[in-house]
Amino acid sequence: MRRIGLGNVRLIPTPGNPVVYGDWLGAPGAPTILFYGHYDVQPVDPLELWQSPPFEATIRDGEIFARGSADDKGQVFMHFKAVEAHLKQNGRLPVNIKFILEGEEEVGSANLDNFIRDHKSDLGADVVVISDSPMFARGIPSICYGLRGLVYFQIDLRGSSTDLHSGSFGGAVANPAFVLSQMLAQMKDRSGRIRIPGFYDAVVDLKDEERQAWASLPFNEKQYRKDFGIPKVFGETGYTTLERTWARPTFEVNGLMSGFTGEGAKTVLPALAMAKVSMRLVPNQQPGKIAELIEAHVKDVAPKTVELKITRMHGGKPWMTSYDNPYVQAAGRAIEKGFGQKPVFTREGGSIPVVSTFQEELGLPSVLFGVGLPDENAHAPNEKLDVANFQGGIIASAILYDEIAKTR
Ligand code: BES
Ligand code: MN
Ligand code: MN
Repeated sequence: MRRIGLGNVRLIPTPGNPVVYGDWLGAPGAPTILFYGHYDVQPVDPLELWQSPPFEATIRDGEIFARGSADDKGQVFMHFKAVEAHLKQNGRLPVNIKFILEGEEEVGSANLDNFIRDHKSDLGADVVVISDSPMFARGIPSICYGLRGLVYFQIDLRGSSTDLHSGSFGGAVANPAFVLSQMLAQMKDRSGRIRIPGFYDAVVDLKDEERQAWASLPFNEKQYRKDFGIPKVFGETGYTTLERTWARPTFEVNGLMSGFTGEGAKTVLPALAMAKVSMRLVPNQQPGKIAELIEAHVKDVAPKTVELKITRMHGGKPWMTSYDNPYVQAAGRAIEKGFGQKPVFTREGGSIPVVSTFQEELGLPSVLFGVGLPDENAHAPNEKLDVANFQGGIIASAILYDEIAKTR
């Protein structure tokens, strides 16, 4: 940031990882962009599945391979290049811009809400710009106007003080692996509906207008199944695949662990069983409220034969905005000029916890203009970013600043 000509570049401490800050404030009277991105990434494991080292950006077949190439360092870098281009060519930017890059997005941004409250006066702006989401598909740029929220739990069950011989004890002592499976199995009914009492109370229904717009997007279910090796899609009855991922809440098992899983066979009753579970939330479900419902329900369905421990982990609020604000329109024009094609409007199933905080604490709208692709292996081995989209994204970002300047 210093090298390309930004000022006030520094690390601002938080109780966790610091926020990286830099700005350019040389356009008095022009609008101010608060740019948000994150420099933390998900773990790289399993490392052996990477074809090149995760922390050495390697270009192969028109793709930049590296952990963080798409999520989110590559997309942040795109904006650095756009700023650099303006400063090199014109010596100035058409807008003011403040960059905040956090280091805890992938673990729920636990310290960022306080950071924003503590630095309210320094973070004054007109609009938040974020590039941390995929485009709808290759060749179809998009603007995202909604994100899901998240609550995450670990559930631990103990059935005995140590593993037990399944011959001597089997049939007389509850098996925590079995109990956990039964508990999880009753969280959803056969139509994919979540059976936690009160879970759907605050859910905002899809608008007919959205359903119609999404139905006309070029989504190919057959290709989707092929791309991701899915034998048959599954989800809540009465909703399409896009509706299920963008506008409906979920209950997922993220991981399960219990008993003997090595080679061969071992006749054992495991002492412990553990599950990591999470729920994606949609407007207006409140993570705190939903977490209470879930904790109560899990405690309710756990039999007395096991000792239960339920631990709440990170989360984030869902977010949605209307796409008729002038900044979204400005982004639409910039994307059209940068990519030669009008963007489509999407919601996404992923979460960026801070986006609702920008609205609630700073009163700022956010424009989510991402250039990742759905098959770029975010969070998985061989994460990549398409070089052409990276370049188109630099051009569109540079034009975006001009277009945002014109809103005033
Ligand atoms: N960039 C993603 C969010 C995202 C994913 C937006 C897909 C749109 C589409 C972000 O880095 C992410 O992975 N967030 C986590 C947040 C969680 C750990 C609180 C997520 O969604 O799992
Ligand atoms: Mn991200
Ligand atoms: Mn991520």
